[in-house]
Amino acid sequence: MAKDVIVACDFSSREQVLGFLDRFEGQSRKPFVKIGMELFYGAGPEIVREIKRRGHKIFLDLKLHDIPNTVRKTMKVLAGLDVDMTNLHAAGTIEMMRAAIEGLTREDGTRPVLIAVTQLTSTSEERMRSELLIDAPLPEVVRKYASNAREAGLDGVVCSPLEASLVKDACGADFLTVTPGVRFADAGKDDQVRITTPERARQIGSDYIVVGRPVTAAEDPVAAYKRCVKEFLNEEI
Ligand code: C5P
Repeated sequence: MAKDVIVACDFSSREQVLGFLDRFEGQSRKPFVKIGMELFYGAGPEIVREIKRRGHKIFLDLKLHDIPNTVRKTMKVLAGLDVDMTNLHAAGTIEMMRAAIEGLTREDGTRPVLIAVTQLTSTSEERMRSELLIDAPLPEVVRKYASNAREAGLDGVVCSPLEASLVKDACGADFLTVTPGVRFADAGKDDQVRITTPERARQIGSDYIVVGRPVTAAEDPVAAYKRCVKEFLNEEI
């Protein structure tokens, strides 16, 4: 898949998300949409089908982490929802990630893009050491988990834009990096700490940027989305 801007639709109801997406009706380009746990658990799988029918690509961000058999069977269900991208925790081991690929692969051999979460950006090195008993430095953990994902046959990882080059270095240029934490240069940070602009994300080598509030909370979400596309993809829409 080509590089793209993914809009994180962090709404809790069907009405809110569809009301938001209505604004993009009639536009030449429909945003690639991220559906997270809040909306999926609140509105149910039908919301995925409904947004898909409107012509959006979908990244279903459910971050699976369970025994390989359960993940295999769950991924089969998600492949049936016809999502374009989904994810899991690399901490579930290579065996779990291989099972996920098996479950996700349809009879015709096609499957959604599968990416791994390495370490959540909310986990500090200190907590990793004291609570999870992981002594290695955080970048080393990210590098190892990304390599494990690559070995299992996954397509890429979600990571901080600041880790994108480390991941490409470890796993190759074709291994996808999906990066949240994006803000416009002239805007506030909200609760994000390590942020980057869409333009900088392009320079760093992100394949997909995940943008939430800069678009969803903008006075003119369509204009904000167009600005992201212009800055990240260098395309006027
Ligand atoms: O509103 P904002 O642009 O901060 O939204 C970013 C999106 O990316 C949210 O859906 C958030 O959960 C997700 N995300 C993140 N940092 C990560 C992983 C996911 O911000 N490390």
